[in-house]
Amino acid sequence: MDNKTLFRRAKVACERAYAPYSDFHVGAAVLTASGEVFEGANVENASYGATICAERVAVSKAVTEGHKDDITAIAIASSGTDTAFPCGICRQFIFEFGDDIRIIVGKDEAHLEEYAISELLPNGFREFS
Ligand code: THU
Repeated sequence: MDNKTLFRRAKVACERAYAPYSDFHVGAAVLTASGEVFEGANVENASYGATICAERVAVSKAVTEGHKDDITAIAIASSGTDTAFPCGICRQFIFEFGDDIRIIVGKDEAHLEEYAISELLPNGFREFS
């Protein structure tokens, strides 16, 4: 699946965000080696710190469906007008499942950028490495 198609999936997922506090909708689409896609959106909470980001929802869905070892890419889209990069916690969360996972972001589908998670999170933490 190409980056534009995956980004479009993230954009659609964005519409399913639960974000009554920030009104900032984020969508993420995780691609596996076999071509499966797992979508997620941010889910906020009245106790703000309990909010979970779109990326962690999507990665958790993939991992709990058996894809801990074959996540190849994650596209991230938002309701904002500029590029939404994954937050620090999400970078570490993604890094857990591979240093070569490709991160696809952009302000729209015509301006996509691609990074390896290890570029966005140099020297990410691993307990056993
Ligand atoms: N958010 C994400 O979903 N992903 C990120 O990488 C950063 C922020 C969400 C959390 C919150 O619901 C909203 O964006 C505003 O911070």
